[in-house]
Amino acid sequence: MRSADLDARLALAKDIAREGGAMMLSSLNNRTNAPVHKFKGAHDYITETDGAVEKMVRSRITAAFPADSFLGEETVDDKAAARYGRDIWVVDPIDGTANFARGVPHFCISVAFVRDGRTELGVVYDPVHDELYVARRGQGATRNGKPIRVSGIGDIRQCIVEAGWSLRVPNEKYLAVVEGLYRAGAQVRRAGSGTLGLAYVADGRSDAYCELHINSWDALAALLLVEEAGGYVNDFLANDGLRHGNPVLGCTPAIKDTLLRAMKLQA
Ligand code: IPD
Ligand code: CA
Repeated sequence: MRSADLDARLALAKDIAREGGAMMLSSLNNRTNAPVHKFKGAHDYITETDGAVEKMVRSRITAAFPADSFLGEETVDDKAAARYGRDIWVVDPIDGTANFARGVPHFCISVAFVRDGRTELGVVYDPVHDELYVARRGQGATRNGKPIRVSGIGDIRQCIVEAGWSLRVPNEKYLAVVEGLYRAGAQVRRAGSGTLGLAYVADGRSDAYCELHINSWDALAALLLVEEAGGYVNDFLANDGLRHGNPVLGCTPAIKDTLLRAMKLQA
């Protein structure tokens, strides 16, 4: 694996994550009671800051690495997706947009770099808490430079599990997963950012994050965090998960089978 070019991409990813985070904080600090959001669909929030952060991220990546492809939540388009090269940046400018729009301090930016169908770099930045999560394949995961590990808890009755939700999946299926988790003895939560939910698994703050469908920009960077922190992750990029999304599971290894059962997934 060429390393110098990944070093350069990682440095850029960290830099743009911090710049994007500063843009979010500035909007948050200037907010009034007037709504800052519109809806792309039911419960699917969008703010001007989502677009502004993605524009900044895209232009900085394109300036530094013009041959790389770019997939971002706010500018995704099928024609461009058909022409992706071997090096692809996958970016969610704000994950947890509903929280951000309503002034709830739980959101982040997510930047992943995929080469030849494998995520090599993952950077997640939570600007409110100034927490920068970084993962590089084969080299571990860190929060603000300190190594992180998954929890290692093996008894599901001691586990905190976050179960993500969206209207992309019928509510009945979501409710069945939540019921299965409670019946198994887990404590279930939903905090509204799939990316931070997975990062918290990597950091041992919770034991699993699961969702029946999530998009690649929400998941890829944080899944690498979980993997590099010693956790189990499902094969998210199978069946063109990059373009269409997939179910997602990231957890401490000992509870993987219980989670797969609740989600009705094969290992
Ligand atoms: C959403 C959040 C949410 C998850 C959804 C995502 P957004 O992304 O990550 O927690 O459950 O599947 O779509 O809308 O905040 O960018
Ligand atoms: Ca998102």
